[in-house]
Amino acid sequence: FSLKNYNTFGIEAKAKRFVAVHSVSDLKSILEQHANDKKFILGGGSNMLLTKDIDALVIHIDLKGKKIIKEDDDFVWVESQAGENWHEFVLWTIDNNFGGLENMSLIPGNVGTTPVQNIGAYGTEIKDTFVSCEALKISNQELITFHLQDCHFGYRESIFKNEVKDQYIITSVIFKLTKRNHKINISYGDIASELAKNHIVKPTLKEVSNAVIAIRKSKLPDPKELGNSGSFFKNPILLKTDFDKIHQQFPEMKYYEISETEVKVPAGWLIEQAGFKGKRFGEAGIHKNQALVLVNYGNATGQEILNVSKNIQETIFQIFGIHIEAEVNII
Ligand code: EPU
Repeated sequence: FSLKNYNTFGIEAKAKRFVAVHSVSDLKSILEQHANDKKFILGGGSNMLLTKDIDALVIHIDLKGKKIIKEDDDFVWVESQAGENWHEFVLWTIDNNFGGLENMSLIPGNVGTTPVQNIGAYGTEIKDTFVSCEALKISNQELITFHLQDCHFGYRESIFKNEVKDQYIITSVIFKLTKRNHKINISYGDIASELAKNHIVKPTLKEVSNAVIAIRKSKLPDPKELGNSGSFFKNPILLKTDFDKIHQQFPEMKYYEISETEVKVPAGWLIEQAGFKGKRFGEAGIHKNQALVLVNYGNATGQEILNVSKNIQETIFQIFGIHIEAEVNII
């Protein structure tokens, strides 16, 4: 079974067996039936690089449905099943005038995978509106609720990537969104300038979403046209003491202070300075508008993309002495 249409990088890789599940009860029985078989859980396929065929039963989580589960005068609690497309879900919340997800418009992938790496963009992360998620324990098919504080969210991090990695399948997620007094966050420079361009002073949720969509379209390639997985690397976080030494040598380096002792450096800047932006290596390359994004020109293998990423990592380390880590899951 070809997985080419099930990963946004558009990599050709084969699954030994493949099954799509549409209900939690089907998922339970599949897990029970295949208790002793190797399994690989596939959501939206937007944050992985396949470097080989999958010698396992691939279970594609295709659970659909979204609804309001509770509301008061100010807030609404919405629940989405894991297989809903993230961007369509965000647009649905905006159409209902529910606030909180607008800055994360147009992020590829499905709702169920958003908690895994605490997706974020333009000053917001899902942890800001996340209430809880339900997840099925693969070993015994028990449905467990993980509340916000259980998830150990960090920058592109959660318990699902660490302590309980590969043990659970997220089946649904609940977000708490505003019905009024929306907390519009346009602190991120790009949003402010996009709104200013359109002479918008007090933006609505829809206008913020449209600004984000315009920015993303100008920088990030559409996976339908050019295979990619969004940011390939995380922005490295350095101790201030280490950063200060590097900064002396490279005074033009961009950075954001994230705590008293830590500084975040945009990996896209490092990669661009190292001369990789827009470069092509056979079928793989670095996007011309955003150096943090690796692209598949059509027929790249996962290994080719991985080699480009290693070349970038080594070069960045040689020049700046900074190690940049992949954000994408390498399979
Ligand atoms: N930059 C460059 N050259 C580049 C790209 C960026 O010099 O080719 C510099 C920019 O000038 C800017 C800084 O890097 O000063 C930040 O760039 P940008 O606003 O594009 O954001 P980013 O740090 O590169 C992160 C997220 C994105 C998210 C944006 C906006 C990570 C790993 N990536 O990128 O998330 O959309 O901020 O919030 O944190 C993703 O995770 O897949 C993703 C796309």
